[in-house]
Amino acid sequence: MERIRLNDGVEIPAVGFGVFMIPNGGETYCAVLDALKAGYRHIDTAAAYMNESDVGKAVRDSGIKRDEVFITSKLWLQDYGYDAAKKGVDTSLKNLGMDYMDLYLLHQPYGDVEGAWKALEDAKKAGKIRSIGVSNMTPKIWNSFVPRFSTIPSVNQVECNPYFQQKELRKILDPQGVRLEAWYPLGHGDKGLLANETVVALAKKYGKNAGQVILRFEIQSGIIVLPKSTNPERIKGNLDIFDFELSEDEMEQMRVLDKGKGTHDPEAPGVGEMLLNNYKIHE
Ligand code: A2P
Repeated sequence: MERIRLNDGVEIPAVGFGVFMIPNGGETYCAVLDALKAGYRHIDTAAAYMNESDVGKAVRDSGIKRDEVFITSKLWLQDYGYDAAKKGVDTSLKNLGMDYMDLYLLHQPYGDVEGAWKALEDAKKAGKIRSIGVSNMTPKIWNSFVPRFSTIPSVNQVECNPYFQQKELRKILDPQGVRLEAWYPLGHGDKGLLANETVVALAKKYGKNAGQVILRFEIQSGIIVLPKSTNPERIKGNLDIFDFELSEDEMEQMRVLDKGKGTHDPEAPGVGEMLLNNYKIHE
């Protein structure tokens, strides 16, 4: 598995297994154990997914050493502001049953983001988190918060796929060595994308499936990917993307597929309130 060095020196496996929407109390446990058996060494969860405890249990029961698995979780909006965020970090650690997390993100860019970020910086200094980052920051949102942070995030996890390549955002992140992590890297199963003629032609040429070609394109663009699948063959196959390489001409054919638009607009009015109302993770 290819690893990527973040701007703080921490190394992250380029493909991760995401557990968004998988229930706690068994299903996430089994999914993570299966993913680890298939070769995944990077698991992406969040306080708001409510399944950190299953993730932790699966990692412990897998028999794989803790330092061989990269664990990401995320702070939820209810815990923003310095003091609440400090507690939020400890709650994530407790739920995971771990004494450190490899990466911890501010899940959404609303409210007292600066206070929450300061708490993440301090938790990193205290050895509770190896690397810290943000999520769902558009160029405008990034520019409104990050210049006031005292340290630069190591990643920004956003929606990204060949139809929504985040070119503007990458122009801001790249010079600062900030890695983009892609959620919905396969366009959330967008049939048009998976059946796109460029993608299908490349899949045929390399003896791969459409999803593998898309993930390969993203990895070659320097992006960390979190593909989702419930199909055991595809879960395994989505890791099997390191034995072929797209040429520069083929990369360009993929780059021109960009439509510059995704499913989620973090700048839409009321998104922060809506998310806070829809996901209550504690009183
Ligand atoms: P399935 O669970 O049947 O594999 P995203 O990661 O962008 O959210 O996309 C997830 C969707 O893409 C799911 O519907 C998943 O379906 C499908 N998918 C996952 N891997 C592949 C693949 N290699 N080729 C085609 N479709 C895939």
